[in-house]
Amino acid sequence: MQPVLETPLKRWRAEASRNWVFFRQWLRAPLTTASVVPSSPRLGRAMAQALPPWVSRVVELGAGTGSITRELLRERVCAERLCMVELNPELHRDLKIAFPNCQVVCGDARRLPQLLAATEGFRDGRADAVVSSLGLLSMPAGLVEQIVAAAFDCLPTRGVMIQFTYGPKCPVRESTLRRLHLRARRVDFTWMNLPPASVYLLQRH
Ligand SMILES: C[S@@+](CC[C@H](N)C(=O)[O-])C[C@H]1O[C@@H](n2cnc3c(N)ncnc32)[C@H](O)[C@@H]1O
Repeated sequence: MQPVLETPLKRWRAEASRNWVFFRQWLRAPLTTASVVPSSPRLGRAMAQALPPWVSRVVELGAGTGSITRELLRERVCAERLCMVELNPELHRDLKIAFPNCQVVCGDARRLPQLLAATEGFRDGRADAVVSSLGLLSMPAGLVEQIVAAAFDCLPTRGVMIQFTYGPKCPVRESTLRRLHLRARRVDFTWMNLPPASVYLLQRH
């Protein structure tokens, strides 16, 4: 877990700068960025707390400016056991600077097994859990299925995927869950995010 030694002013300035970076990326690629502002610390904590206690190695999909990452590191995951995957090269570059002790990979979540196999500390292509803040709601169903299938290809039988959504139900369709032999349940909800968000836990039957 990472000690946090920032003054409030420094923290505010860093956050304002990250919000600006994120907003610029949203202007460039609204569909893949999928949100105008980064997730709140409260949502990050809810994602971290949804991880079962036995989980050690974690993959984070769509790390953005690291708002979920910070809470994962504060609450639950050792930096050396976290691999972040981000598609956007500019965000990836900033993440590498902000989280020098984590593995930070630039790539597409659909290729997760291959990405992990090329990543120090994850070369067996495995993790215990996948934490995703990808904007699944704005993706076609086929793409969502590829991403979820790739995530579970890297997980053990009892592995879990944690996903948040702004929508009223699970962002992975029932038909997709059935085909992949998965079930989903809502484990948390918070108003303290823009917009309010639910946290889902996906696991095998
Ligand atoms: C809704 S943002 C979440 C960012 C951050 N985790 C947060 O909660 O504020 C989604 C992020 O996923 C990234 N992304 C979108 N599609 C992706 C893909 N196929 N593989 C990896 N990252 C992707 C986007 O670039 C963006 O940074």
